[in-house]
Amino acid sequence: MEMRKLGSQGPEISVVGFGAWEAGGDTWGPNQSEDVVIEAMRAAFDAGITWIDTAEVYGKGRSEEIVGRALAGRPRDQFQVFTKVGSKPEGSGYRPAEIKQAIRGSLGRLGLDHVDLYQIHWPVADMSIEETWGAMVELVDEGLTRHIGVSNFDRDLIQRCLAVGNVDSEQNQFSLFRQEDRDDLLPWLDEAGIGFLAYSPLAFGMLTGAITMETEFDPSDFRSGKRFQGEAYRNLFAPEVREQRLRRVERLRAVAERLEVPVATLALRWVVEQHGVTAAIAGSRNPNHVRSNASAGDLRLDDRTLREIEGIFA
Ligand SMILES: NC(=O)c1ccc[n+]([C@@H]2O[C@H](COP(=O)([O-])OP(=O)(O)OC[C@H]3O[C@@H](n4cnc5c(N)ncnc54)[C@H](OP(=O)(O)O)[C@@H]3O)[C@@H](O)[C@H]2O)c1
Repeated sequence: MEMRKLGSQGPEISVVGFGAWEAGGDTWGPNQSEDVVIEAMRAAFDAGITWIDTAEVYGKGRSEEIVGRALAGRPRDQFQVFTKVGSKPEGSGYRPAEIKQAIRGSLGRLGLDHVDLYQIHWPVADMSIEETWGAMVELVDEGLTRHIGVSNFDRDLIQRCLAVGNVDSEQNQFSLFRQEDRDDLLPWLDEAGIGFLAYSPLAFGMLTGAITMETEFDPSDFRSGKRFQGEAYRNLFAPEVREQRLRRVERLRAVAERLEVPVATLALRWVVEQHGVTAAIAGSRNPNHVRSNASAGDLRLDDRTLREIEGIFA
């Protein structure tokens, strides 16, 4: 498993991480058996993945609780846990006292005395980011987290954080179907010594080769469009766009078959090959999928293959 440093001051992490949003259930259809989810997390560590990404909001705390159970008894220096604080309906959620309360809540559910990375999940309008970032820096000083990062932030907001203290990482959506950050944000982050964690690198499963026109998602799964019709549904899964998306995935499958690797492995490796990307967070709750995704950590692609893949998604 290839390892990389997260930003200029962060830890060494595997280039593929375990995303625990699905593990919390809720927006991903009916809850999967907790035993299977825990088996998937343990399979990740066995395959060389060093970190799990979760958040207080995933499954309304269930994801963090399951991560805590999966980690129980494991030596603390053998894994890294990244979690996030989100805004709250009743207020900003990002005032210093709220952040300190939130991290204690997460640590309680995880059964840990510190996390390795604590992230602001998304920005809110008119947030007092300097005050918020000051509180995040204090969490490091207090030993509650080793490192701090942001998610879904733009460059201006990150610059305002940098005026207050170090920023270890940015977490943003990035995949073959979502390459917007490639030319601007990624080189800038790299220059600034800020790590980049790519979320939804498999385009919510669309880039795995497992989804077809016939795939019917559970009505409680956001990809069905029956619960709400968010951006992911409209851009990837809605019947009027799905066929066009799948045509590209079929062309990616042809490359994967030639290289004798799973489609998802190839899509993940393309992400971590991009300049400025530190690692990709592959969301899963299935031990076999996790093992397959971890294999992207060892795959090497030559320039010709990378260009061929880019041509498919141009
Ligand atoms: N910061 C943010 O705002 C934000 C937003 C979204 C996600 N995230 C983080 O990023 C992680 C990953 O993103 P994501 O979950 O949105 O999308 P993703 O990783 O692009 O896709 C996850 C989907 O792909 C399927 N899958 C994974 N590996 C597979 C394989 N080898 N073969 C077939 N299917 C496979 C999963 O199904 P199975 O469960 O059956 O494996 C799941 O349905 C999340 O868990 C979360 O930690 C962060």
